[in-house]
Amino acid sequence: MKTHQYDVVVVGAGGAGLMAALYASQRARTAVISKLYPTRSHTGAAQGGIGAALGNMEEDHPEWHTYDTVKGSDYLGDQDAIEFMCYQAPDIVYELEHMGLPFSRTPEGLIAQRPFGGHTNNITGKPVRRACYAADRTGHMILQTLYQQGIKHGLTFYDEFQMLDLIMVNGKAAGVVALEIATGEIHIFHAKAVILATGGWGRVWEITSNAFTLTGDGAAIVLRKGLPLEDMEFYQFHPTGIYKLGILITEGVRGEGGVLINDKGERFMERYAPTVKDLASRDVVSRAIYIEIREGRGINGQRYVYLDVRPETVNKYAAIDGRTRPDGSPYVVTAEELLAKLPDIIDFCRTYLGIDPVTEPIPVQPTAHYAMGGIPTNIKAEVLADEKGTVVPGLYAAGETACVSVHGANRLGTNSLLDIVVFGKQAGIHAAEYAEGADFEPLPDDAADFARAQLEAILNSQGSERIADIATEMKRVMMDHVGVFRTAEGMQQALDKIRELKARFKYIHIDDRGKTFNTELLSAWELGNLLDLAEVTTISALARTESRGAHSREDYPKRDDENWLKHTLAWMHPDGQVELRYKPVVITKYQPKERVY
Ligand code: FUM
Repeated sequence: MKTHQYDVVVVGAGGAGLMAALYASQRARTAVISKLYPTRSHTGAAQGGIGAALGNMEEDHPEWHTYDTVKGSDYLGDQDAIEFMCYQAPDIVYELEHMGLPFSRTPEGLIAQRPFGGHTNNITGKPVRRACYAADRTGHMILQTLYQQGIKHGLTFYDEFQMLDLIMVNGKAAGVVALEIATGEIHIFHAKAVILATGGWGRVWEITSNAFTLTGDGAAIVLRKGLPLEDMEFYQFHPTGIYKLGILITEGVRGEGGVLINDKGERFMERYAPTVKDLASRDVVSRAIYIEIREGRGINGQRYVYLDVRPETVNKYAAIDGRTRPDGSPYVVTAEELLAKLPDIIDFCRTYLGIDPVTEPIPVQPTAHYAMGGIPTNIKAEVLADEKGTVVPGLYAAGETACVSVHGANRLGTNSLLDIVVFGKQAGIHAAEYAEGADFEPLPDDAADFARAQLEAILNSQGSERIADIATEMKRVMMDHVGVFRTAEGMQQALDKIRELKARFKYIHIDDRGKTFNTELLSAWELGNLLDLAEVTTISALARTESRGAHSREDYPKRDDENWLKHTLAWMHPDGQVELRYKPVVITKYQPKERVY
Protein backbone atom coordinates (compact mmCIF):
# COMPACT_ATOMS: atom_id res chain seq x y z
CA MET A 1 0.00 0.00 0.00
CA LYS A 2 1.30 3.44 -0.94
CA THR A 3 0.56 6.59 1.02
CA HIS A 4 0.66 10.11 -0.43
CA GLN A 5 0.15 13.42 1.30
CA TYR A 6 -1.41 16.56 -0.24
CA ASP A 7 -3.11 19.59 1.25
CA VAL A 8 -6.06 19.18 -1.08
CA VAL A 9 -7.17 16.08 -2.98
CA VAL A 10 -9.72 16.50 -5.75
CA VAL A 11 -11.61 13.40 -6.82
CA GLY A 12 -12.88 13.60 -10.39
CA ALA A 13 -11.37 15.38 -13.39
CA GLY A 14 -14.43 16.68 -15.21
CA GLY A 15 -15.18 20.40 -15.39
CA ALA A 16 -15.89 20.77 -11.67
CA GLY A 17 -12.84 18.81 -10.57
CA LEU A 18 -10.46 20.57 -12.94
CA MET A 19 -11.75 24.03 -12.08
CA ALA A 20 -11.48 23.19 -8.36
CA ALA A 21 -7.95 21.89 -8.83
CA LEU A 22 -6.84 24.94 -10.83
CA TYR A 23 -7.95 27.23 -8.02
CA ALA A 24 -6.87 25.03 -5.08
CA SER A 25 -3.39 24.59 -6.56
CA GLN A 26 -2.80 28.34 -6.50
CA ARG A 27 -2.48 28.14 -2.70
CA ALA A 28 -2.20 24.49 -1.70
CA ARG A 29 -0.38 21.30 -2.73
CA THR A 30 -3.10 19.67 -4.76
CA ALA A 31 -3.59 16.33 -6.49
CA VAL A 32 -6.39 15.21 -8.81
CA ILE A 33 -7.40 11.57 -8.83
CA SER A 34 -9.76 10.25 -11.48
CA LYS A 35 -11.01 6.82 -12.48
CA LEU A 36 -10.61 7.97 -16.08
CA TYR A 37 -8.04 9.69 -18.17
CA PRO A 38 -9.26 13.27 -17.45
CA THR A 39 -10.36 14.19 -20.95
CA ARG A 40 -12.67 11.16 -21.02
CA SER A 41 -14.75 12.69 -18.20
CA HIS A 42 -18.44 13.11 -18.87
CA THR A 43 -18.27 16.92 -19.08
CA GLY A 44 -17.08 16.15 -22.60
CA ALA A 45 -20.53 14.85 -23.50
CA ALA A 46 -22.29 18.15 -22.78
CA GLN A 47 -23.21 19.66 -26.06
CA GLY A 48 -25.39 22.70 -26.48
CA GLY A 49 -23.97 25.47 -24.35
CA ILE A 50 -23.18 27.20 -21.06
CA GLY A 51 -25.73 29.71 -19.82
CA ALA A 52 -24.66 33.31 -19.23
CA ALA A 53 -26.59 36.53 -19.79
CA LEU A 54 -23.91 38.17 -21.93
CA GLY A 55 -26.51 39.91 -24.05
CA ASN A 56 -24.31 39.50 -27.12
CA MET A 57 -27.18 38.88 -29.52
CA GLU A 58 -30.14 40.53 -27.81
CA GLU A 59 -31.12 42.13 -24.53
CA ASP A 60 -30.51 39.88 -21.52
CA HIS A 61 -29.73 40.25 -17.79
CA PRO A 62 -28.34 38.04 -15.01
CA GLU A 63 -31.55 38.80 -13.13
CA TRP A 64 -33.62 37.28 -15.96
CA HIS A 65 -31.34 34.24 -15.84
CA THR A 66 -31.90 34.09 -12.07
CA TYR A 67 -35.68 34.24 -12.41
CA ASP A 68 -35.76 31.64 -15.20
CA THR A 69 -33.65 29.28 -13.11
CA VAL A 70 -35.89 29.72 -10.05
CA LYS A 71 -39.00 29.15 -12.18
CA GLY A 72 -37.39 26.23 -14.01
CA SER A 73 -36.55 24.63 -10.66
CA ASP A 74 -40.29 24.67 -9.88
CA TYR A 75 -39.36 26.93 -6.97
CA LEU A 76 -37.34 24.25 -5.18
CA GLY A 77 -33.97 25.81 -6.02
CA ASP A 78 -32.28 27.85 -3.29
CA GLN A 79 -32.53 31.41 -4.54
CA ASP A 80 -29.37 32.71 -2.87
CA ALA A 81 -27.31 30.06 -4.66
CA ILE A 82 -29.13 30.59 -7.97
CA GLU A 83 -28.56 34.34 -7.85
CA PHE A 84 -24.89 33.80 -7.02
CA MET A 85 -24.45 31.42 -9.97
CA CYS A 86 -26.29 33.53 -12.54
CA TYR A 87 -24.46 36.74 -11.59
CA GLN A 88 -21.09 34.91 -11.71
CA ALA A 89 -21.93 33.53 -15.16
CA PRO A 90 -20.73 36.32 -17.49
CA ASP A 91 -17.35 36.68 -15.74
CA ILE A 92 -16.71 32.98 -15.64
CA VAL A 93 -17.55 32.58 -19.33
CA TYR A 94 -15.04 35.33 -20.14
CA GLU A 95 -12.54 33.60 -17.84
CA LEU A 96 -12.97 30.42 -19.92
CA GLU A 97 -12.63 32.46 -23.10
CA HIS A 98 -9.36 33.95 -21.83
CA MET A 99 -8.10 30.46 -20.99
CA GLY A 100 -8.48 29.73 -24.70
CA LEU A 101 -11.88 28.10 -25.05
CA PRO A 102 -12.80 28.27 -28.75
CA PHE A 103 -16.38 29.54 -28.57
CA SER A 104 -18.41 29.90 -31.77
CA ARG A 105 -18.56 33.54 -32.79
CA THR A 106 -21.01 36.12 -34.12
CA PRO A 107 -20.04 37.91 -37.35
CA GLU A 108 -18.76 40.73 -35.10
CA GLY A 109 -16.47 38.31 -33.25
CA LEU A 110 -18.45 38.11 -30.02
CA ILE A 111 -19.24 34.82 -28.28
CA ALA A 112 -22.26 33.38 -30.12
CA GLN A 113 -25.38 32.50 -28.15
CA ARG A 114 -28.42 30.33 -28.93
CA PRO A 115 -31.83 29.82 -27.29
CA PHE A 116 -32.32 26.91 -24.88
CA GLY A 117 -35.29 25.53 -22.98
CA GLY A 118 -36.73 27.70 -20.22
CA HIS A 119 -34.39 30.66 -20.84
CA THR A 120 -36.54 33.66 -21.68
CA ASN A 121 -36.82 37.36 -22.19
CA ASN A 122 -38.62 38.11 -18.95
CA ILE A 123 -40.70 40.86 -20.56
CA THR A 124 -42.02 39.01 -23.64
CA GLY A 125 -41.79 35.46 -22.25
CA LYS A 126 -40.19 34.43 -25.57
CA PRO A 127 -36.93 32.40 -25.78
CA VAL A 128 -33.75 34.43 -25.36
CA ARG A 129 -30.31 33.60 -26.81
CA ARG A 130 -28.35 32.90 -23.62
CA ALA A 131 -26.46 29.63 -24.26
CA CYS A 132 -22.82 30.40 -25.14
CA TYR A 133 -21.66 27.57 -27.36
CA ALA A 134 -18.78 25.97 -29.21
CA ALA A 135 -20.77 24.32 -32.02
CA ASP A 136 -22.37 21.28 -30.30
CA ARG A 137 -19.18 20.42 -28.40
CA THR A 138 -19.30 22.97 -25.60
CA GLY A 139 -18.58 20.52 -22.76
CA HIS A 140 -15.81 18.91 -24.76
CA MET A 141 -14.19 22.31 -25.28
CA ILE A 142 -14.52 23.23 -21.59
CA LEU A 143 -12.93 19.94 -20.59
CA GLN A 144 -10.06 20.25 -23.06
CA THR A 145 -9.43 23.88 -22.12
CA LEU A 146 -9.37 23.20 -18.38
CA TYR A 147 -7.19 20.14 -18.80
CA GLN A 148 -4.70 22.10 -20.90
CA GLN A 149 -4.65 24.77 -18.21
CA GLY A 150 -4.04 22.01 -15.67
CA ILE A 151 -1.05 20.76 -17.65
CA LYS A 152 0.23 24.30 -18.14
CA HIS A 153 0.06 24.95 -14.40
CA GLY A 154 1.70 21.64 -13.52
CA LEU A 155 -1.24 20.01 -11.74
CA THR A 156 -0.53 16.57 -10.33
CA PHE A 157 -2.83 13.91 -11.80
CA TYR A 158 -3.39 10.32 -10.71
CA ASP A 159 -5.21 8.99 -13.76
CA GLU A 160 -7.20 5.75 -13.60
CA PHE A 161 -7.34 5.66 -9.82
CA GLN A 162 -10.73 4.57 -8.50
CA MET A 163 -11.76 6.21 -5.23
CA LEU A 164 -13.13 3.53 -2.90
CA ASP A 165 -13.56 5.32 0.41
CA LEU A 166 -13.37 8.65 2.16
CA ILE A 167 -11.22 8.86 5.27
CA MET A 168 -12.89 10.76 8.09
CA VAL A 169 -11.07 11.48 11.37
CA ASN A 170 -12.66 13.34 14.30
CA GLY A 171 -15.58 14.27 12.06
CA LYS A 172 -13.25 15.89 9.50
CA ALA A 173 -12.27 14.78 6.00
CA ALA A 174 -8.72 13.41 6.15
CA GLY A 175 -8.20 11.84 2.74
CA VAL A 176 -9.35 9.13 0.39
CA VAL A 177 -8.58 5.49 -0.32
CA ALA A 178 -8.17 4.64 -4.00
CA LEU A 179 -7.37 1.65 -6.16
CA GLU A 180 -4.74 2.00 -8.87
CA ILE A 181 -6.64 0.32 -11.68
CA ALA A 182 -3.54 -0.73 -13.63
CA THR A 183 -2.00 -2.65 -10.72
CA GLY A 184 -4.78 -3.36 -8.22
CA GLU A 185 -2.70 -1.63 -5.55
CA ILE A 186 -4.43 0.33 -2.79
CA HIS A 187 -3.27 3.93 -2.28
CA ILE A 188 -4.02 6.28 0.57
CA PHE A 189 -4.21 9.97 -0.17
CA HIS A 190 -3.81 11.71 3.16
CA ALA A 191 -5.19 15.26 2.87
CA LYS A 192 -6.34 18.26 4.85
CA ALA A 193 -9.25 18.82 2.48
CA VAL A 194 -11.07 16.62 -0.02
CA ILE A 195 -13.15 17.87 -2.94
CA LEU A 196 -15.62 15.41 -4.45
CA ALA A 197 -16.40 16.09 -8.11
CA THR A 198 -17.35 12.57 -9.15
CA GLY A 199 -20.36 13.28 -11.38
CA GLY A 200 -23.81 11.71 -11.61
CA TRP A 201 -25.47 8.29 -11.66
CA GLY A 202 -27.49 8.02 -14.85
CA ARG A 203 -26.53 4.35 -15.10
CA VAL A 204 -29.33 3.61 -12.61
CA TRP A 205 -31.75 3.82 -15.59
CA GLU A 206 -32.12 1.72 -18.73
CA ILE A 207 -32.18 4.52 -21.29
CA THR A 208 -29.58 7.12 -20.42
CA SER A 209 -27.36 9.74 -21.98
CA ASN A 210 -24.72 8.94 -19.34
CA ALA A 211 -21.49 7.08 -20.02
CA PHE A 212 -20.81 3.70 -18.35
CA THR A 213 -18.68 5.45 -15.77
CA LEU A 214 -21.53 7.51 -14.27
CA THR A 215 -22.11 5.33 -11.22
CA GLY A 216 -22.42 7.90 -8.43
CA ASP A 217 -19.30 6.77 -6.59
CA GLY A 218 -18.81 9.94 -4.55
CA ALA A 219 -22.47 10.19 -3.54
CA ALA A 220 -22.65 6.52 -2.55
CA ILE A 221 -19.45 6.79 -0.50
CA VAL A 222 -20.75 9.86 1.33
CA LEU A 223 -23.96 7.99 2.12
CA ARG A 224 -21.95 5.13 3.62
CA LYS A 225 -20.08 7.63 5.77
CA GLY A 226 -23.32 8.50 7.55
CA LEU A 227 -23.85 11.77 5.66
CA PRO A 228 -27.11 12.63 3.90
CA LEU A 229 -27.99 13.07 0.23
CA GLU A 230 -30.37 15.84 -0.78
CA ASP A 231 -33.39 15.82 -3.13
CA MET A 232 -32.60 12.45 -4.66
CA GLU A 233 -36.15 12.10 -6.01
CA PHE A 234 -35.45 14.78 -8.59
CA TYR A 235 -33.79 13.07 -11.54
CA GLN A 236 -33.95 14.73 -14.94
CA PHE A 237 -34.95 13.03 -18.17
CA HIS A 238 -33.66 14.95 -21.18
CA PRO A 239 -36.43 14.97 -23.80
CA THR A 240 -34.29 14.04 -26.78
CA GLY A 241 -32.15 10.94 -26.55
CA ILE A 242 -31.62 8.76 -29.60
CA TYR A 243 -34.42 6.16 -29.62
CA LYS A 244 -33.40 3.01 -27.72
CA LEU A 245 -29.77 4.17 -27.29
CA GLY A 246 -30.36 7.23 -25.12
CA ILE A 247 -27.41 9.14 -26.62
CA LEU A 248 -27.94 12.86 -26.15
CA ILE A 249 -29.32 14.96 -28.99
CA THR A 250 -28.69 18.46 -27.74
CA GLU A 251 -31.45 20.88 -26.94
CA GLY A 252 -29.37 23.12 -29.20
CA VAL A 253 -31.11 21.34 -32.10
CA ARG A 254 -34.37 22.91 -30.94
CA GLY A 255 -32.44 26.11 -30.19
CA GLU A 256 -31.50 26.21 -33.87
CA GLY A 257 -35.16 25.76 -34.80
CA GLY A 258 -35.76 21.99 -34.71
CA VAL A 259 -39.29 20.93 -33.70
CA LEU A 260 -40.85 17.84 -32.14
CA ILE A 261 -43.40 16.08 -34.33
CA ASN A 262 -45.82 13.23 -33.53
CA ASP A 263 -47.23 10.49 -35.74
CA LYS A 264 -49.97 12.81 -36.99
CA GLY A 265 -47.35 15.28 -38.17
CA GLU A 266 -48.35 17.74 -35.43
CA ARG A 267 -45.91 20.07 -33.71
CA PHE A 268 -47.39 18.92 -30.44
CA MET A 269 -45.48 21.27 -28.08
CA GLU A 270 -47.82 24.04 -29.24
CA ARG A 271 -50.46 22.38 -27.06
CA TYR A 272 -48.29 21.94 -23.97
CA ALA A 273 -46.34 25.22 -23.93
CA PRO A 274 -48.03 27.75 -26.22
CA THR A 275 -45.48 30.55 -25.70
CA VAL A 276 -42.10 28.81 -25.83
CA LYS A 277 -43.28 25.57 -27.49
CA ASP A 278 -40.33 23.23 -28.16
CA LEU A 279 -38.18 25.34 -25.85
CA ALA A 280 -40.15 24.71 -22.67
CA SER A 281 -38.21 23.36 -19.69
CA ARG A 282 -37.10 19.74 -19.88
CA ASP A 283 -39.59 18.28 -17.43
CA VAL A 284 -42.44 19.80 -19.44
CA VAL A 285 -41.14 18.53 -22.79
CA SER A 286 -40.30 15.03 -21.50
CA ARG A 287 -43.80 14.64 -20.06
CA ALA A 288 -45.35 15.87 -23.30
CA ILE A 289 -43.44 13.24 -25.30
CA TYR A 290 -44.54 10.51 -22.86
CA ILE A 291 -48.16 11.61 -23.14
CA GLU A 292 -48.03 11.67 -26.94
CA ILE A 293 -46.59 8.15 -26.96
CA ARG A 294 -49.04 6.86 -24.36
CA GLU A 295 -52.00 8.29 -26.29
CA GLY A 296 -50.91 6.45 -29.42
CA ARG A 297 -49.24 9.32 -31.27
CA GLY A 298 -45.70 7.93 -31.14
CA ILE A 299 -44.31 7.41 -34.63
CA ASN A 300 -45.96 4.30 -36.12
CA GLY A 301 -47.36 3.61 -32.64
CA GLN A 302 -43.80 3.12 -31.32
CA ARG A 303 -42.20 4.65 -28.22
CA TYR A 304 -40.61 7.62 -29.96
CA VAL A 305 -41.39 10.90 -31.67
CA TYR A 306 -39.48 12.82 -34.32
CA LEU A 307 -37.11 15.70 -33.78
CA ASP A 308 -37.21 17.46 -37.13
CA VAL A 309 -34.34 19.80 -37.99
CA ARG A 310 -34.58 19.62 -41.77
CA PRO A 311 -34.07 23.18 -43.11
CA GLU A 312 -37.51 23.26 -44.75
CA THR A 313 -39.19 22.34 -41.45
CA VAL A 314 -37.09 24.79 -39.42
CA ASN A 315 -37.81 27.61 -41.85
CA LYS A 316 -41.54 26.84 -41.99
CA TYR A 317 -41.99 27.00 -38.22
CA ALA A 318 -39.59 29.93 -37.81
CA ALA A 319 -41.86 31.90 -40.17
CA ILE A 320 -44.98 30.82 -38.22
CA ASP A 321 -43.31 31.86 -34.94
CA GLY A 322 -42.10 35.14 -36.45
CA ARG A 323 -38.52 34.26 -35.47
CA THR A 324 -35.88 36.71 -36.61
CA ARG A 325 -32.12 36.96 -36.64
CA PRO A 326 -30.42 39.48 -34.30
CA ASP A 327 -30.43 42.06 -37.14
CA GLY A 328 -34.23 41.72 -37.50
CA SER A 329 -34.18 39.75 -40.77
CA PRO A 330 -36.29 36.57 -41.02
CA TYR A 331 -34.68 33.46 -39.53
CA VAL A 332 -33.83 31.16 -42.45
CA VAL A 333 -31.28 28.32 -42.16
CA THR A 334 -29.44 26.29 -44.75
CA ALA A 335 -28.10 22.76 -44.55
CA GLU A 336 -24.56 24.18 -44.49
CA GLU A 337 -25.35 26.36 -41.49
CA LEU A 338 -26.80 23.40 -39.58
CA LEU A 339 -23.73 21.34 -40.39
CA ALA A 340 -21.51 24.09 -39.00
CA LYS A 341 -23.56 24.51 -35.82
CA LEU A 342 -24.45 20.88 -35.09
CA PRO A 343 -21.60 18.79 -36.55
CA ASP A 344 -21.48 16.15 -33.80
CA ILE A 345 -25.25 15.63 -33.77
CA ILE A 346 -25.28 15.10 -37.49
CA ASP A 347 -22.36 12.72 -37.13
CA PHE A 348 -24.03 10.76 -34.27
CA CYS A 349 -27.19 10.32 -36.34
CA ARG A 350 -25.23 9.13 -39.33
CA THR A 351 -23.18 6.73 -37.19
CA TYR A 352 -25.79 5.32 -34.82
CA LEU A 353 -28.98 5.61 -36.85
CA GLY A 354 -27.75 5.63 -40.41
CA ILE A 355 -29.79 8.75 -41.14
CA ASP A 356 -28.91 12.29 -42.13
CA PRO A 357 -30.82 14.81 -39.97
CA VAL A 358 -30.55 17.39 -42.73
CA THR A 359 -32.84 15.25 -44.88
CA GLU A 360 -34.62 12.97 -42.35
CA PRO A 361 -36.18 13.53 -38.92
CA ILE A 362 -34.45 12.01 -35.86
CA PRO A 363 -36.30 9.38 -33.75
CA VAL A 364 -36.03 10.45 -30.10
CA GLN A 365 -37.30 9.51 -26.65
CA PRO A 366 -36.60 10.93 -23.16
CA THR A 367 -33.33 9.72 -21.69
CA ALA A 368 -32.11 9.70 -18.06
CA HIS A 369 -29.69 12.60 -18.02
CA TYR A 370 -28.95 14.49 -14.83
CA ALA A 371 -29.20 14.30 -11.04
CA MET A 372 -30.59 17.49 -9.57
CA GLY A 373 -29.99 16.09 -6.07
CA GLY A 374 -26.77 14.92 -4.48
CA ILE A 375 -24.34 15.74 -1.70
CA PRO A 376 -25.72 18.80 0.12
CA THR A 377 -23.44 21.82 -0.02
CA ASN A 378 -23.55 25.56 0.59
CA ILE A 379 -22.36 28.29 -1.78
CA LYS A 380 -18.74 27.74 -0.66
CA ALA A 381 -19.13 24.10 -1.79
CA GLU A 382 -18.74 22.94 1.82
CA VAL A 383 -20.52 19.65 2.43
CA LEU A 384 -23.40 19.83 4.93
CA ALA A 385 -24.07 17.15 7.51
CA ASP A 386 -27.68 17.85 8.39
CA GLU A 387 -30.80 19.95 7.97
CA LYS A 388 -29.34 22.68 10.20
CA GLY A 389 -26.52 23.34 7.73
CA THR A 390 -23.69 21.98 9.91
CA VAL A 391 -20.51 22.00 7.81
CA VAL A 392 -18.34 18.86 7.56
CA PRO A 393 -14.83 20.31 8.07
CA GLY A 394 -12.49 19.73 5.16
CA LEU A 395 -15.08 18.16 2.85
CA TYR A 396 -16.24 19.89 -0.34
CA ALA A 397 -18.35 18.81 -3.31
CA ALA A 398 -19.09 20.40 -6.67
CA GLY A 399 -20.71 19.58 -9.99
CA GLU A 400 -23.38 16.98 -10.60
CA THR A 401 -22.54 14.99 -7.49
CA ALA A 402 -23.35 18.03 -5.34
CA CYS A 403 -26.67 19.68 -4.54
CA VAL A 404 -26.16 23.34 -3.72
CA SER A 405 -29.20 23.56 -4.79
CA VAL A 406 -29.31 25.64 -7.97
CA HIS A 407 -31.45 23.24 -9.99
CA GLY A 408 -34.17 22.42 -7.48
CA ALA A 409 -36.73 20.09 -9.01
CA ASN A 410 -35.72 20.65 -12.64
CA ARG A 411 -32.50 21.94 -14.18
CA LEU A 412 -32.49 24.28 -17.15
CA GLY A 413 -30.23 23.17 -19.98
CA THR A 414 -26.82 24.96 -19.97
CA ASN A 415 -26.93 25.47 -16.21
CA SER A 416 -24.94 22.30 -15.51
CA LEU A 417 -21.85 23.55 -17.33
CA LEU A 418 -22.28 26.82 -15.48
CA ASP A 419 -22.72 25.02 -12.15
CA ILE A 420 -19.52 22.99 -12.60
CA VAL A 421 -17.30 25.95 -13.28
CA VAL A 422 -18.87 28.34 -10.76
CA PHE A 423 -18.99 25.91 -7.85
CA GLY A 424 -15.85 24.02 -8.88
CA LYS A 425 -14.06 27.36 -8.50
CA GLN A 426 -15.69 27.95 -5.11
CA ALA A 427 -14.65 24.48 -3.95
CA GLY A 428 -11.04 25.09 -5.01
CA ILE A 429 -10.82 28.51 -3.36
CA HIS A 430 -12.40 27.46 -0.07
CA ALA A 431 -10.70 24.09 0.24
CA ALA A 432 -7.30 25.74 -0.21
CA GLU A 433 -8.18 28.43 2.31
CA TYR A 434 -9.29 25.76 4.78
CA ALA A 435 -6.12 23.72 4.21
CA GLU A 436 -3.94 26.77 4.91
CA GLY A 437 -5.38 27.01 8.39
CA ALA A 438 -5.64 23.28 9.17
CA ASP A 439 -3.28 20.53 10.31
CA PHE A 440 -3.26 17.01 8.94
CA GLU A 441 -5.43 14.75 11.06
CA PRO A 442 -3.50 11.63 12.16
CA LEU A 443 -4.09 8.82 9.72
CA PRO A 444 -5.77 5.79 11.35
CA ASP A 445 -3.99 2.41 10.95
CA ASP A 446 -7.18 0.87 9.57
CA ALA A 447 -7.83 3.67 7.03
CA ALA A 448 -7.95 1.28 4.08
CA ASP A 449 -9.70 -1.64 5.81
CA PHE A 450 -13.28 -0.85 4.79
CA ALA A 451 -12.32 -0.33 1.14
CA ARG A 452 -10.33 -3.54 1.10
CA ALA A 453 -13.13 -5.47 2.76
CA GLN A 454 -15.61 -4.31 0.11
CA LEU A 455 -13.40 -5.58 -2.71
CA GLU A 456 -12.62 -8.83 -0.90
CA ALA A 457 -16.31 -9.51 -0.30
CA ILE A 458 -16.85 -9.35 -4.07
CA LEU A 459 -13.71 -11.35 -4.92
CA ASN A 460 -14.41 -14.08 -2.36
CA SER A 461 -18.15 -14.38 -2.89
CA GLN A 462 -19.20 -17.97 -3.53
CA GLY A 463 -22.50 -16.98 -5.18
CA SER A 464 -23.58 -17.24 -8.80
CA GLU A 465 -25.36 -13.91 -9.36
CA ARG A 466 -24.07 -12.00 -12.37
CA ILE A 467 -23.46 -8.24 -12.49
CA ALA A 468 -25.24 -7.85 -15.82
CA ASP A 469 -28.42 -9.57 -14.62
CA ILE A 470 -28.72 -7.47 -11.47
CA ALA A 471 -27.91 -4.28 -13.37
CA THR A 472 -30.45 -5.03 -16.10
CA GLU A 473 -33.24 -5.68 -13.61
CA MET A 474 -32.42 -2.52 -11.65
CA LYS A 475 -32.33 -0.34 -14.77
CA ARG A 476 -35.59 -1.70 -16.11
CA VAL A 477 -37.58 -1.32 -12.91
CA MET A 478 -36.23 2.20 -12.35
CA MET A 479 -37.07 3.16 -15.94
CA ASP A 480 -40.59 1.77 -15.67
CA HIS A 481 -41.49 3.08 -12.24
CA VAL A 482 -39.12 5.84 -11.12
CA GLY A 483 -38.86 7.66 -14.43
CA VAL A 484 -40.79 10.50 -16.03
CA PHE A 485 -44.13 9.50 -14.47
CA ARG A 486 -44.49 7.83 -11.09
CA THR A 487 -47.16 6.28 -8.84
CA ALA A 488 -46.99 4.91 -5.29
CA GLU A 489 -47.78 1.43 -6.54
CA GLY A 490 -45.09 1.46 -9.21
CA MET A 491 -42.45 2.95 -6.94
CA GLN A 492 -43.22 0.38 -4.24
CA GLN A 493 -42.69 -2.34 -6.85
CA ALA A 494 -39.38 -0.73 -7.76
CA LEU A 495 -38.33 -0.50 -4.12
CA ASP A 496 -39.17 -4.15 -3.47
CA LYS A 497 -37.15 -5.13 -6.53
CA ILE A 498 -34.16 -2.97 -5.56
CA ARG A 499 -34.14 -4.54 -2.08
CA GLU A 500 -34.30 -8.01 -3.62
CA LEU A 501 -31.40 -7.08 -5.91
CA LYS A 502 -29.37 -5.74 -3.00
CA ALA A 503 -29.83 -9.07 -1.24
CA ARG A 504 -28.77 -10.94 -4.39
CA PHE A 505 -25.79 -8.62 -4.81
CA LYS A 506 -24.20 -10.27 -1.76
CA TYR A 507 -23.93 -13.46 -3.83
CA ILE A 508 -22.38 -11.91 -6.89
CA HIS A 509 -19.87 -13.94 -8.90
CA ILE A 510 -17.06 -12.47 -10.96
CA ASP A 511 -14.67 -14.42 -13.16
CA ASP A 512 -11.64 -12.16 -13.01
CA ARG A 513 -9.71 -12.60 -9.74
CA GLY A 514 -6.65 -10.77 -11.01
CA LYS A 515 -5.16 -7.46 -10.00
CA THR A 516 -4.33 -5.84 -13.35
CA PHE A 517 -7.12 -3.73 -14.84
CA ASN A 518 -9.78 -5.78 -13.07
CA THR A 519 -12.67 -3.85 -14.54
CA GLU A 520 -15.11 -6.65 -13.68
CA LEU A 521 -14.34 -6.16 -9.99
CA LEU A 522 -14.81 -2.41 -10.35
CA SER A 523 -18.08 -2.85 -12.27
CA ALA A 524 -19.39 -4.97 -9.42
CA TRP A 525 -18.34 -2.37 -6.87
CA GLU A 526 -19.96 0.38 -8.97
CA LEU A 527 -23.17 -1.64 -9.18
CA GLY A 528 -23.29 -1.62 -5.38
CA ASN A 529 -23.20 2.19 -5.55
CA LEU A 530 -25.97 2.31 -8.12
CA LEU A 531 -28.19 0.03 -6.03
CA ASP A 532 -27.80 2.25 -2.96
CA LEU A 533 -28.59 5.36 -4.98
CA ALA A 534 -31.58 3.70 -6.66
CA GLU A 535 -32.96 2.78 -3.25
CA VAL A 536 -32.53 6.26 -1.78
CA THR A 537 -34.03 7.83 -4.91
CA THR A 538 -37.10 5.62 -4.71
CA ILE A 539 -37.66 6.08 -0.98
CA SER A 540 -37.32 9.86 -1.30
CA ALA A 541 -39.72 9.83 -4.26
CA LEU A 542 -42.31 7.63 -2.53
CA ALA A 543 -42.42 9.98 0.43
CA ARG A 544 -42.99 13.12 -1.66
CA THR A 545 -46.73 13.10 -2.28
CA GLU A 546 -46.87 15.90 -4.84
CA SER A 547 -45.71 16.63 -8.39
CA ARG A 548 -42.90 19.15 -8.80
CA GLY A 549 -40.45 19.54 -11.68
CA ALA A 550 -39.04 16.19 -12.72
CA HIS A 551 -40.92 14.36 -9.94
CA SER A 552 -44.28 13.81 -11.61
CA ARG A 553 -46.73 11.65 -9.68
CA GLU A 554 -49.90 10.53 -11.39
CA ASP A 555 -51.49 9.87 -8.00
CA TYR A 556 -50.56 13.36 -6.74
CA PRO A 557 -50.62 15.48 -9.92
CA LYS A 558 -50.46 18.92 -8.24
CA ARG A 559 -47.59 20.82 -6.71
CA ASP A 560 -48.23 21.19 -2.98
CA ASP A 561 -46.32 24.19 -1.65
CA GLU A 562 -48.05 24.06 1.68
CA ASN A 563 -46.59 20.68 2.56
CA TRP A 564 -43.72 20.11 0.16
CA LEU A 565 -41.87 23.36 -0.45
CA LYS A 566 -38.87 21.77 1.24
CA HIS A 567 -35.73 19.79 0.48
CA THR A 568 -35.46 16.09 1.29
CA LEU A 569 -32.39 14.81 3.15
CA ALA A 570 -31.87 11.05 3.16
CA TRP A 571 -29.51 9.07 5.40
CA MET A 572 -28.72 5.37 5.02
CA HIS A 573 -27.96 3.86 8.41
CA PRO A 574 -25.51 0.98 8.84
CA ASP A 575 -28.44 -1.47 9.19
CA GLY A 576 -29.61 -0.35 5.74
CA GLN A 577 -32.59 1.69 6.98
CA VAL A 578 -33.13 4.97 5.16
CA GLU A 579 -34.15 7.98 7.24
CA LEU A 580 -35.69 11.09 5.69
CA ARG A 581 -35.65 14.59 7.13
CA TYR A 582 -36.46 17.91 5.51
CA LYS A 583 -35.13 21.46 5.39
CA PRO A 584 -36.65 24.69 4.05
CA VAL A 585 -36.01 26.11 0.59
CA VAL A 586 -34.16 29.45 0.57
CA ILE A 587 -36.54 31.99 -0.93
CA THR A 588 -35.27 35.53 -1.37
CA LYS A 589 -37.08 37.45 -4.14
CA TYR A 590 -39.38 35.11 -5.97
CA GLN A 591 -42.44 33.68 -4.26
CA PRO A 592 -43.65 30.42 -5.80
CA LYS A 593 -46.32 30.73 -8.45
CA GLU A 594 -47.74 28.50 -11.14
CA ARG A 595 -45.29 27.81 -13.94
CA VAL A 596 -46.64 28.77 -17.36
CA TYR A 597 -44.49 28.40 -20.48
O1 FUM B 1 -29.09 19.53 -24.58
C1 FUM B 1 -27.94 19.70 -24.23
O2 FUM B 1 -27.06 20.15 -24.95
C2 FUM B 1 -27.60 19.38 -22.84
C3 FUM B 1 -27.18 20.37 -22.09
C4 FUM B 1 -27.33 20.28 -20.64
O3 FUM B 1 -27.66 19.21 -20.11
O4 FUM B 1 -27.18 21.32 -19.99
